[in-house]
Amino acid sequence: MKEAEAYIEQLWQDDEDLRRAKEGTKEAGMPEIEIAAPYGRLLTLLVRMSGAKAILEIGALGGYSGICLARGLADGGTLTSLELKEAYAEVARRHLTQAGYGERVTYQLGDARESLAALEREGKRYDFFFIDADKEGYLYYLDMAIRLARPGAVIVADNTFLRGRVLNPAKEGPAVQAVRAFNERLATDERLDSTMLPSYDGLAIARVK
Ligand code: DHB
Ligand code: MG
Repeated sequence: MKEAEAYIEQLWQDDEDLRRAKEGTKEAGMPEIEIAAPYGRLLTLLVRMSGAKAILEIGALGGYSGICLARGLADGGTLTSLELKEAYAEVARRHLTQAGYGERVTYQLGDARESLAALEREGKRYDFFFIDADKEGYLYYLDMAIRLARPGAVIVADNTFLRGRVLNPAKEGPAVQAVRAFNERLATDERLDSTMLPSYDGLAIARVK
């Protein structure tokens, strides 16, 4: 509901660090597709409420969501962020550094599928996942998140409606089909407790049992 979204957006303003991340992403010529601000605040809350110490982000873009995630971490917590493009990771790193989280974040460059397989081989485990990369990879990313999860880990994914295309039965492109498959798995996988928020572009939230 756009009216409710507009109402909420004027209650909370983006602070300087988030504004800088957003503007810097735009100035770098990168896509302006940050997570909706209220969902960014939800990321901070979920990280803080879950007590997560090791976060894995899939898709860094310009670091807006990275700042939201890092803000929820207690002392000693870390953020690992997988990013396909080195230039994007550099912009994200700059924004996290300016926000005071440069020491906490590690960027892993390249195809997230390969990075995830490597993390699994290394025996890495995480207690918070944020999925926001290429939409055709979503089902694989969910599967890998479950495999890399400590018990009780939280999984959040952005864009579960693909600007409404997921809800339109006439749309059947590869990204739409992949996100539908992701959503169906989210809802039915017995290893998860889960739900989805319908505002903005849809946000999936799950907890690994
Ligand atoms: C779009 C938005 C996103 O948040 C994203 O991760 C990818 C694409 C979009 O609106 O096109
Ligand atoms: Mg997104």
